[in-house]
Amino acid sequence: MELNLLTFLYLIASVTFIVGLKMLSHPASARSGNLVAAIGMTLAIFGTIFLYEEDGVRLGNYTWIFGGILIGTVVGTLAAKRVKMTAMPEMVSLFNGMGGACAALISLVEFDHLAHVDPEMAGVLLMGGAESAIKGFLLIIVLGLIIGSVSFAGSIIAWGKLNGSIKDFSFKGQHIFNILLLAVIVALATYLIVLLPANAVIIFYTIFFLSLLYGVFFVFPIGGADMPVVISLLNSFTGVAAACGGFLYDNKVMLTGGILVGAAGTLLTILMCKAMNRSLTNVLIGSFGGSATAGASAGSTVGTHKEISLSDTAVLMSYASKVYIVPGYGLAVAQAQHACHELEKLLESKGVDVKYAIHPVAGRMPGHMNVLLAEADVPYEKLLEMEQANDEFSTTDVVLILGANDVVNPAAKSDPASPIYGMPILDVELAKHVIVNKRSMKPGYAGIENELFFRPKTSMLFGDAKKVLQDLVAEIKNL
Ligand code: TAP
Repeated sequence: MELNLLTFLYLIASVTFIVGLKMLSHPASARSGNLVAAIGMTLAIFGTIFLYEEDGVRLGNYTWIFGGILIGTVVGTLAAKRVKMTAMPEMVSLFNGMGGACAALISLVEFDHLAHVDPEMAGVLLMGGAESAIKGFLLIIVLGLIIGSVSFAGSIIAWGKLNGSIKDFSFKGQHIFNILLLAVIVALATYLIVLLPANAVIIFYTIFFLSLLYGVFFVFPIGGADMPVVISLLNSFTGVAAACGGFLYDNKVMLTGGILVGAAGTLLTILMCKAMNRSLTNVLIGSFGGSATAGASAGSTVGTHKEISLSDTAVLMSYASKVYIVPGYGLAVAQAQHACHELEKLLESKGVDVKYAIHPVAGRMPGHMNVLLAEADVPYEKLLEMEQANDEFSTTDVVLILGANDVVNPAAKSDPASPIYGMPILDVELAKHVIVNKRSMKPGYAGIENELFFRPKTSMLFGDAKKVLQDLVAEIKNL
């Protein structure tokens, strides 16, 4: 009876995961979607704690379980409340690493149970006909171990690289070394599962160690600007590792949750690669945005730029009929979203049509600009995706670029040698005037010069985005 109730709870939880994911696809419903899925997860967790039983015995161990839940809740809540929006990829990476670690721990514990029956696994042979079942079980344990360990170690390196505590590191032939390392892991796993050797315990822990090492070397050489793609890929790894846990325990909700995370992470990885017009292989071995290119000089090699004053900007924008704002990473760093919304409302009150052009990889994570502007209550209808915006620029009077750089860099279209060549960009040059706000002539995240800043239509408006926007609003009010 209780088992049935538990199965029913798992079913509800699985449905909430799917509904929650669907709701996450629109900014208006994203918060509620998160809540719906969290309620489902709570039901699944408490259902398991209080209703699951094996051979008529409940879980018990409540002090440990609730002690863990309490610590996790406090740490998770504090971290989520304190994190800055620009540091979200770091946090996602860290949390994802914890998921990978959990999956690897499950495999370690379950292997221990298996080996405990007979430390040399000879018991497997005594079981005769059950051998194939044991091999199947071991296959899932080893898969969860490898994928979980790679995801854990890789995510921790990604986290360190994003917060600047770990520098890019690569050596000649590293990709070959990585492939060989992976081949050794696969060979050892096959040997272990197929032959069930007497030294199974040693082989198992060697696989564990090598998988951790692989995770580290897999992420080390990847360029800084590609980190969000890698994090999403590692996220999908964690999903698959969790699904292995679902198989092990025959737990439907863990299986569903793992598969959903795995599928969502894979789709997001593909979408991000598509938005940058790059293959996953290129992301993984291309070193884009890493130290190799980040050295591009702050000084111009392309020509001279011209500046525009605040008062000229105020006049130009106030008397325009159509203005597009292009937000980028700098807007998020400056936390200028509210000031930006104020400028937009002020211009609209003067009869100017103001909209935002959102590049799919503007900022540092998928949907970064949408979330940022939603925080300032900018209506969703004002946010145009890249393709729509590109159709509008030719009839636009002024494009105001706020802390964006790579996503408007014409080199993506014109310079085959550029690391961002092929990435679709916002064609801001089609507009009559382009005003770029940033603090200096320094390059963006890909570390490359931007010719747009030197083009005849472009004027630079230097300064911190928030301060500039506040001053601009004051200037327009005084007109
Ligand atoms: P970036 O190219 O990184 O440029 C941001 C610009 O903001 C910088 O040039 C910087 O110039 C300026 N800035 C920094 N702080 C500022 C402040 N307080 N006020 C005003 N400006 C400030 O940003 P983007 O155009 O948004 O491009 C995003 C990059 O991340 C792309 O290379 C993209 O491929 C990569 N990426 C993103 C994602 C996702 S999913 N979003 C995924 C993978 C890769 P100054 O230092 O001169 O101020």
